[in-house]
Amino acid sequence: MKKYNPITADILTELKLIVGEKHCFSDEEKLANYANDETPDSKYACLPEAVVLPATTEQISRVVKLANRANFPVVPRGAGTGLACGAVPVGGGVVLSLERFDQIIEVNATAMYMTVQAGVRTDEVQKAAKAVGLFYAGDPCSGDSCFIGGNIATNAGGNRAVKYGTTRHQVYEFEVVMPLGEIVRLGSRLNKNTTGYCLEQLVMGSEGTLGIITQATLKLKPLPAQVIDVLAVFTDVDSAIAIVGLMLRAGLTPTCVEFMDNAAVQSVERFLQERLPHSEHGHYMIIQLEADNEQDLENKTATLDELCSENGAIAVLVADSQKIWKARKAFTEATRLESAVQSFEDIVVPVDRIPEAVAVSNRIANKYGLAIRMVSHAGDGNIHLTLFRGELPEDEWDQRLTGFENELYEIIYRLGGRLSGEHGIGYKRKDLMQKFTDPVELDMMRRIKLALDPNLILNPGKIFDVE
Ligand code: LAC
Ligand code: ZN
Repeated sequence: MKKYNPITADILTELKLIVGEKHCFSDEEKLANYANDETPDSKYACLPEAVVLPATTEQISRVVKLANRANFPVVPRGAGTGLACGAVPVGGGVVLSLERFDQIIEVNATAMYMTVQAGVRTDEVQKAAKAVGLFYAGDPCSGDSCFIGGNIATNAGGNRAVKYGTTRHQVYEFEVVMPLGEIVRLGSRLNKNTTGYCLEQLVMGSEGTLGIITQATLKLKPLPAQVIDVLAVFTDVDSAIAIVGLMLRAGLTPTCVEFMDNAAVQSVERFLQERLPHSEHGHYMIIQLEADNEQDLENKTATLDELCSENGAIAVLVADSQKIWKARKAFTEATRLESAVQSFEDIVVPVDRIPEAVAVSNRIANKYGLAIRMVSHAGDGNIHLTLFRGELPEDEWDQRLTGFENELYEIIYRLGGRLSGEHGIGYKRKDLMQKFTDPVELDMMRRIKLALDPNLILNPGKIFDVE
């Protein structure tokens, strides 16, 4: 990695002048809160040299300009709920937290959009939309704690991507501080636009390496008239997963299609201390359907019931929505208690290859003797695989994990898949990214980074190495 200058007392003074004395600190105790994200492995933790909490876009621009002059890294941070060490300051420098950007600026129910600052929590966006009878479609599992700015920066996926796409599909436009400190608005509140390069889509999902998003205008939709959550329980994984293809081909257009394997169900049950149906041997498919009216919903539910029953479901239940989503969303927290060190894989494959991807993940984990739990946004081909280090000695764990990942991703790429469906590459998957990405593609990414961030100031050491 490039060599940076340390944050000196003079730089600290300048930072304090920009953001205010109270909103810049460098004492170790406070820095510790900004040393990692939610990646379940403390070896990735890394203390920043200082943290700044700016309140305006202008202040961010000044911090970034100072960083370019004085040669220190700036690592943007939302709520720190990432799972790829994207907000970990691996090159030292300053963590720039967006936590004070917490205002909803405008909700326009007539034109169906909402403008928010980057540090607004995702569930606050959802609630504000609902309050005017509208709907924000983004729904990452960490919605009650993550920030919308982080969702945009990582192109967060979540549960409704099957029908509505990922975060990048929910955004009209945003304000961003570029790596040299310029402030620009990218995108537009247009439904069609072929006016030059699509720069907003380049910055969204760039994990804070191409810009710091400060506010965004989001698309809102009418609230669906009818919604139902169905829980189909299977005793074998293949039959459960096969439902995805059957449903899509039957034209059911589900909103969510979530898979939880039995080990995940049991883990969540222990964590919540709540009895879940058929938890002794059931694998879950949680399917959400929307409809225009009651009759339409009834027809869709009947079709789904038939498909699941014919395909070996032992139960097809109308789920208690609150309970079932609480269970699904508790997965990360629940499994965290089972092993302090874990690797969280975020495989994605074309939807028609998901049965093979699930089978191969289980087979290779078995081969390496690694305990796993699996949940999947199965409707969009995205599989989360949590592997436990458990009691394994560190070198044995490292060796097994490396063997597992290399063997798995060879096959995943052959299936047309990629390393990450929604959590991103960050610092954690950088080596695998280097190994599995077409060198021409990787070189294009490097040249874009260098063109926009010639001094390599913004979030260095993430996604790929530039030098
Ligand atoms: C989930 C998060 C971890 O789907 O992406 O549970
Ligand atoms: Zn997920």
